[in-house]
Amino acid sequence: MENRRLAILLSGRGSNFVAIHDAISRGDLNAEICCVISNMPEAAGLVRAKEFGLTAICLPSKGIERVEYDKMLVKTLRSFDPALICLAGFMRILSPELLKAYPSRVLNMHPALLPSFPGLHAQRQALRHGVKVSGCTVHIADEGVDTGPILLQKAVEVLEGDTEETLSARILEQEHQIYWRAIALVLDKISAGSI
Ligand code: GAR
Repeated sequence: MENRRLAILLSGRGSNFVAIHDAISRGDLNAEICCVISNMPEAAGLVRAKEFGLTAICLPSKGIERVEYDKMLVKTLRSFDPALICLAGFMRILSPELLKAYPSRVLNMHPALLPSFPGLHAQRQALRHGVKVSGCTVHIADEGVDTGPILLQKAVEVLEGDTEETLSARILEQEHQIYWRAIALVLDKISAGSI
């Protein structure tokens, strides 16, 4: 049986996670969410995961050294045997621990057209630079911050009078459109043996 299990890592609201879950429920994405893990105990995404009847795990990261935390994360992930790890607003820099355990199997969503505006507050960075087009990117995570091979991108026009909130909201709509498509793409490549 082909492994199409997804582990979702998040830190907050979890709207990208919900969009992935919805795509699976609609039958658009042939996959299964095996666990949702948050480093933040109060993450709304964890509550949603429980409402959906999914395995929702809180692994608090506060006060734990990065490598130590990622070792713990890998141990937990291994027990679910995921095909892919989907970072969905997981606001942590990954240590090589996780990437070595799941090479080319960790996906990330970033709210800008990478390689522009990596790191925090990507939408604010875009507005400050006065770009006319920004967007979102799904990529395979590597050891850099928001670097690694790009899978899908969607451009979003920056409108006159946009604030960080209005631009973020329009970009988020597109994030929800492309994340599950990128996941499908990678799962298909894995099953074809091309990655
Ligand atoms: C999303 O906009 C995502 O692109 C961003 O965090 C938000 C999470 O929202 N991720 C990053 O900035 C990672 N560098 P969500 O919790 O509603 O999915």
